[in-house]
Amino acid sequence: MSRPTALILLAAGQGSRMNSELPKVLHQIGGAPLAVHALSAGAALEPAHVVVVTGHGADQVEAALSKHDDTLSFARQVEQNGTAHAVDQARAALEGFEGDAVVLYGDTPFVSGETLERMAEARAEADVVVLGFEAAVPGRYGRLITDGAELVKIVEAKDATDDELAVTLCNSGVVMCDAATLFGLIAKVGNENASGEYYLTDIVEIARADGMRATVVACDEAETLGINTRAELAAAEAAFQARKRAEALENGVTLAQPETTYFALDTVLGRDAVIGPQVVFGPGVTVESGAEIKAFCHLEGCHVAQGAVVGPYARLRPGAELEEGAKVGNFVEIKNATLAEGAKVNHLSYVGDASVGAGANVGAGTITCNYDGVFKHRTKIGAGAFIGSNTLLVAPVEVGAEAMTGSGTVVTDDVPDGDLALSRPRQINKAGFARKLMAMLRAKKMKKDA
Ligand code: UD1
Ligand code: CA
Repeated sequence: MSRPTALILLAAGQGSRMNSELPKVLHQIGGAPLAVHALSAGAALEPAHVVVVTGHGADQVEAALSKHDDTLSFARQVEQNGTAHAVDQARAALEGFEGDAVVLYGDTPFVSGETLERMAEARAEADVVVLGFEAAVPGRYGRLITDGAELVKIVEAKDATDDELAVTLCNSGVVMCDAATLFGLIAKVGNENASGEYYLTDIVEIARADGMRATVVACDEAETLGINTRAELAAAEAAFQARKRAEALENGVTLAQPETTYFALDTVLGRDAVIGPQVVFGPGVTVESGAEIKAFCHLEGCHVAQGAVVGPYARLRPGAELEEGAKVGNFVEIKNATLAEGAKVNHLSYVGDASVGAGANVGAGTITCNYDGVFKHRTKIGAGAFIGSNTLLVAPVEVGAEAMTGSGTVVTDDVPDGDLALSRPRQINKAGFARKLMAMLRAKKMKKDA
């Protein structure tokens, strides 16, 4: 990047048409808030500063976005007096910053990093670069009035003449300009218009009056899609999923039934990974090359290494780490646990807050009892250990390398390397007792029925 860049993300709006308690920019697509999508696109410019302008639900928005990136700065816009007024709230946070500022919208998630890079290139030729698009239905979008390569002005639909309304090149709202210049221009914006708001769009005419140049970079309308309603959110989710599926196929991933694979914004699938039908990837999943996720699995915050096999019907929760060749089978839940190379948990088990050593075999129905109602405790299973079916591992507890537990064992004490732990009562067989008991019960029933 030639110049340092600062992002200004506008996220103060109420979004009342969402009909929701949740601030609009926190509604999710692909498991990530709308505002995070916009910030991720902006990351392509490697911004030196990111200022998020908050208003409605500010506390909630700031808390959620800080979780995503704790280097964000926030500026509050107490009253929403227009887009120029919103950008002006970032002035103090960017005091003395030398570089370009880019204005993004928290409710416009699909602007691509590549488009922002094209805007940065266009800055070589113009002082103000505006992102535009050919609108299928221009409706209430601002119109970009051009003269050759020059952007002459932006007219809001409410303030436009009939001739201006006939223009189909519309304003996305995304603007790039030297930061100090931007705040200088904004200081001159007035609110004498149909809405009585301070329009960011006015900076184009003001810049030109000061002898500066403005230009338009165009992108596909799909990128500028803004979310205002639940229906638009659902349609945007569908568009996002379609794009992620196409990308995965393009990257050499096998999707058995692509329309049933659900992606998160940050899902990473390696080349030749094989994904069965009906698999959901929540946030934070990496599946390496050649790993296989069979049908009906739900994965979140986990890593699946090469050659590992998951499912069908498995759940990997945050902190699940499957090393090479590990296997997790049907109706198994793994949380905050590492399965070292070649370890197997194949049937009906819960492994949480644990480490399972290389090549260990965890039998059907094994449960790590990791929670005492207040604290979580860890279970450690050594390399090559064999955990018998239906073992309960009452954490904190450690089973040594190549140790075994008998079926049904309740492990409350550590098992040294190579030892066998048994905790069930010894079995006794009562000779002929089953037949005698049955005969007795049948006789009783006959008497009752008679
Ligand atoms: C704006 C543009 C319009 C463009 C359209 C694209 C202006 C004056 N108009 O219109 O040219 O075609 O976006 O969608 O800029 N916001 C604040 N604080 C405010 C006002 C707005 O944070 O005081 C935020 C909103 O939450 C939203 C964004 O800025 O994310 C755009 O505001 P909105 O009121 O939706 O502008 P539009 O009328 O759609
Ligand atoms: Ca809007």
